[in-house]
This record gives sequence, C-alpha cells and structure tokens, in this order.
Amino acid sequence: MKETASQAPTLFLMVGLPASGKTRRARELAAERRALRLTPDDWALSLFGQEDRHQERPDGKRWLLEGRLVVLAIEALRLGVSVVLDFGLWSRDERSALRWMAASVGASCEVVYLPVEREVQWSRIQHRWKHTPEQTFPMAEAELDPWRDMFEVPDANELSGSFLPSPPPADETWFDWAQRFWPSLVQGLNDAGPNHARRQAALRVCEAGSVPWEAVTPPRPQSEPVALVAVDRTRRAVLGNLGQLYRYDLSEAYGHLPNDDGSFNDRQLDRFLAGADPQHRAWLITAAGRTAGFVMTIPDPDGGTSISAFFVVRALRRTGVGRAAAALAIATAPGRWSIAFQRYNPGVEKFWSRVAADAAGDRWDMRDGPVPESRPPDTWITFTTAPG
Ligand SMILES: CC(C)(COP(=O)(O)OP(=O)(O)OC[C@H]1O[C@@H](n2cnc3c(N)ncnc32)[C@H](O)[C@@H]1OP(=O)(O)O)[C@@H](O)C(=O)NCCC(=O)NCCS
Repeated sequence: MKETASQAPTLFLMVGLPASGKTRRARELAAERRALRLTPDDWALSLFGQEDRHQERPDGKRWLLEGRLVVLAIEALRLGVSVVLDFGLWSRDERSALRWMAASVGASCEVVYLPVEREVQWSRIQHRWKHTPEQTFPMAEAELDPWRDMFEVPDANELSGSFLPSPPPADETWFDWAQRFWPSLVQGLNDAGPNHARRQAALRVCEAGSVPWEAVTPPRPQSEPVALVAVDRTRRAVLGNLGQLYRYDLSEAYGHLPNDDGSFNDRQLDRFLAGADPQHRAWLITAAGRTAGFVMTIPDPDGGTSISAFFVVRALRRTGVGRAAAALAIATAPGRWSIAFQRYNPGVEKFWSRVAADAAGDRWDMRDGPVPESRPPDTWITFTTAPG
C-alpha cells in the first residue's frame, strides 16, 4: 500500500449502546492514533445538566450539540487530524452519512462496534451510577429492551468499509439527510470565518448534489485488504466480463479492434476455460471484498511459472492493489518466475519491475525476447523465489 494512504486522517465512529465500553475504547484510540475525541455526553452533562437528555425531536439540544461536533470533526479532518466520534450512532443512516462526509474531505472512516450483553450492560450502568453519578445520565432497566430494538447492529459492509448505501429516496445526498438529522450542521458550516466563502461554495455544490462537499474528485474505493479468490470453470461469466475490459484496456496500445459483435478475442481466457491443463490457474482479485481484477498463471515452457493475464479495474489503479495481488499470486508457486510484457503498454515495465523487486530484492533480470516480424519484442522479467 502507498505510504501516503496511511497519512490520511481517519474518522472513527464509535458504535454501541450505553455502557458498551465506547468511551473507554474511544480514549484508547485517541491516544493510540493521536486523534481528537468528541464525546457528546461529556459536553451535554456540563452544558445542560443530567436532568433531561434533551433528545426530543425536532428541537432537542442533543442533536444541535452533535451537529456542531460533526462540524468540528469535519474541520479537524480537513486539517489532517483524526477524530474519534464517540456518539453511539444507533442507526445505519447516521453512520452512512458520516462515512460519506469523511470520504468527501479525503479522510478514511472506520466503524468501531462494541457489542454488550444485556446483563453486563445493566450491571455497568448500576455500577457507574453508584460510583461516578456525575459522569452519567440516570437510566432505567425498563429502557434497555426498547433500546436494543431500536439499535441497528453494523453489518459486514459497514465494518469493512466496503459498500456505502445510497441515501433514502427523499434525500439527494447523504448531506441532505444529515442536515435534517443534525439541524445545526448547516448553521455551523455557515459561520463566518476565514474560510467562509470557500465553505459557502462547497455547501452550494454539496446541496446541488453534484460533487460531495468540496471534494474535487469522488473518493477512491477502499483498496485494502487485497485477496485472491480461486476461480473454477463454473464461474466463467465473471472472468469473461472482466476479460473483455482487460482486452479493451490493452486494445489502444496493441492496436486491436473489436469483432463485429463488439466483443474482443481473449485467447488466454479460452485456454483457461478449455480446462486442458490444471496448471492454468485463475483468481479473482478482491479489494475490501469487492471485485478488483483478475490474475491468470500458466507453466513456463522453460520451467517455473508465468503470468498469462493480469488486470486491475481502473477505479483502483495506482492504489497498490496490483502490487499486492501480484505478491499473493507469486507466493502460490515458489520457484522460477518469467513474466512477459510489452514496453509499448504504458506503465507495465515500471509495474513489473516493482513486483520483481518486492519478490526478489535486486536478484531479478530483465531482457528483450526475440524480435517478431511485425512488432517490437516482448520483454521478460525473471526471478526465483524461495519456498515458504
Ligand atoms: C498494470 C496494472 C496491472 C497495474 O495495476 P495497479 O493496481 O494500478 O498497480 P499498483 O498500484 O500496484 O502500482 C505499483 C507500482 O507500479 C508502478 N505503476 C503501476 N502502474 C503504472 C503506470 N500506469 N505508470 C507508471 N507506473 C506505474 C508504480 O511504480 C506503482 O507505484 P506508485 O503508484 O506508488 O508509483 C494495471 O494498470 C492494469 O490492469 N493495466 C491494464 C492491463 C495490463 O496492462 N496488464 C498487464 C499486462 S502485462
């Protein structure tokens, strides 16, 4: 993975019921990741007292407070500071809106879910009320079950950060949804200040639903973790579809035209699908669980293994997916590797050189093959990896 990615600020979303251990974990995360912790309970207790939770809709002060803290969080992320948002975030929509806002300012986002058993929860609530009443709100045992019914447990997509659902039909963007849920959000963004004009412009763009917030380009999809999933011949369609994108990608450099039916020939795929040789192997590449490309390997006539086709979808290029997938593929067959490419295919010489250096340090070799009649020669990179 690229070094720059780890420097992007992160918005941590603490998700869990009261007494699930959110604030304790939030403190740890804030210390570990040098992040700003925003715990609305702390603010609400000192600003409004503990008599009333102020959560009635539509005017509950709790939501105004949270809205201002969201604004603060976004400003911190813009400045490159990670933030731990210790809100509880019971609904998927709240979490989706915050994930969207984080992405729109170029930050990554992690959902940190803390499940808690009902009995453990109730005993912690009682313990807290007995020993540190000034740090909590009064809670009744009768409230626990209705809370559990309302709470939406984060699903696998949220936890892996892979799929962001669309906003509800009534809202054009997640920002529209968020400004209804946290009415002080827009007010906070509209405050005059050194960035007033910029924020106004950003907000207008955002409200128009064209580009989220002030992002110049849409956020890149999540590129980690990268995995290989073996493809057997029963799943031809997925390789066939991606194979067409691959051939189309190469068609400019190679001067290939589509057939009359609009499809491209794909000889490597045909060899794999024919099933004649079990050593023709194919994997889908996935990034954060989503389809990200494919890799196919074949035995090399001079011994060892060769790459027959390698493809990363465009939305994930230059995020390290190709490099990680190549390393995984190479690890499946320790020994000699020969990888052919064409120098007129832009970027691949640099790419395969990086892959070879990852696999073999400086013990790899690059040479041009025999010159065919009508085109420049193929170039071969060779190296040998040790078992295990
Ligand atoms: C070639 C290909 C697989 C690279 O995949 P990728 O996921 O974008 O590669 P990575 O992000 O892992 O790149 C790793 C390094 O390779 C080099 N690299 C990759 N693509 C490059 C390009 N287009 N130009 C220059 N260098 C490139 C860079 O050094 C890069 O590191 P950096 O981004 O930190 O500078 C992808 O562009 C692709 O699928 N192309 C179309 C199909 C193809 O040509 N396959 C190879 C046939 S031999």
